[in-house]
Amino acid sequence: MTYKSRATHEGDVAIEATQLVKAFGITRAVDGVNLSIPKGSVYGFLGPNGAGKTTTIRMLSTLLAPDEGNATILGYDLKKEAAEIRARVSLTGQFASVDENLTGLENLIMVARLSGYARKQAKDRAYELLSAFDLEEAARRQVKKYSGGMRRRLDIAASIVVLPELLFLDEPTTGLDPRSRNHVWEIVRALVTAGTTVLLTTQYLDEADQLADRIAVIDKGKVIAEGTSAELKASVGSGTLHVRLQDPDTRPEAEQILTNTLGTAVQLSSDPTALSAHVSVTSRASKALDELAKANISITDFSLGQPSLDEVFLTLTGQPPEEEHTSEENIS
Ligand SMILES: Nc1ncnc2c1ncn2[C@@H]1O[C@H](COP(=O)(O)OP(=O)(O)OP(=O)(O)O)[C@@H](O)[C@H]1O
Ligand SMILES: [Mg+2]
Repeated sequence: MTYKSRATHEGDVAIEATQLVKAFGITRAVDGVNLSIPKGSVYGFLGPNGAGKTTTIRMLSTLLAPDEGNATILGYDLKKEAAEIRARVSLTGQFASVDENLTGLENLIMVARLSGYARKQAKDRAYELLSAFDLEEAARRQVKKYSGGMRRRLDIAASIVVLPELLFLDEPTTGLDPRSRNHVWEIVRALVTAGTTVLLTTQYLDEADQLADRIAVIDKGKVIAEGTSAELKASVGSGTLHVRLQDPDTRPEAEQILTNTLGTAVQLSSDPTALSAHVSVTSRASKALDELAKANISITDFSLGQPSLDEVFLTLTGQPPEEEHTSEENIS
């Protein structure tokens, strides 16, 4: 038996990418992306619809050849050693890939059989995963009768039948309710504890905040910021004034007053009573609160502190994060 020495492939870096480019016609979906992703962590890609997240993941998982640039995945060359990489990585796509007409159990057994498990072992592994993912009761139900959260969990279960060294999760929690999202987060954390490196894309800032050790903010095919969530927040500025109003009708006037006293753009969150603004000189914050009081605008709460990841995102990309995923054009 011959085997390749793994010595040269052991290191602390799971993914090292340089100047990745992918164009579709005139769209430069990925436009010179550099990445260095440490092993044993969760790495998050955060970006608006069409930023190039899925395209980047498809290249890194060998599904799509880059036009330019190269990458090393788990020590293997993306272009020359794709088979080595495929044996060690797994991908859960943005759109569910399980067979709707089969039951959850049948889907998992099929994947296990395709991964080389013998009949009995395939069945054992399927039951083990159904239990771990809280899907035992739905084991014999057709997937088309599953809820979105159940389907997502089954999808992730299918991608870890053989535990990969590196797992790509493309929007693992899009469309899930908070409880199901928490469930998926627990699964991701357990995978990392078991030694898997996870690269996930998300449109939820709190997800990146909670789960990712490091985050790359991607916009228009480029990485526009990279770091831990604390670093990203600090890069935008440590002083942000958050104000909550008693009456949402007073928000336009409050916005005007804050803009005038602070001299910066005021951000309006989806909560109709909330506003926030970057404060370069701390003393101006109390002046701004004074001005609001003088105008008889009642506030129920205020704080001066770190910006939220939402504000970081808005500052960096100039657009708020998507509330809901609507893009259909990039189904692959
Ligand atoms: N197969 C394709 N053919 C043509 N254009 C494509 C293809 N795949 C992606 N694109 C385009 O490339 C750009 C990046 O798409 P991509 O799917 O990578 O974005 P994304 O960040 O994953 O977005 P989303 O949050 O909507 O999933 C978009 O403009 C998209 O329309
Ligand atoms: Mg995508």
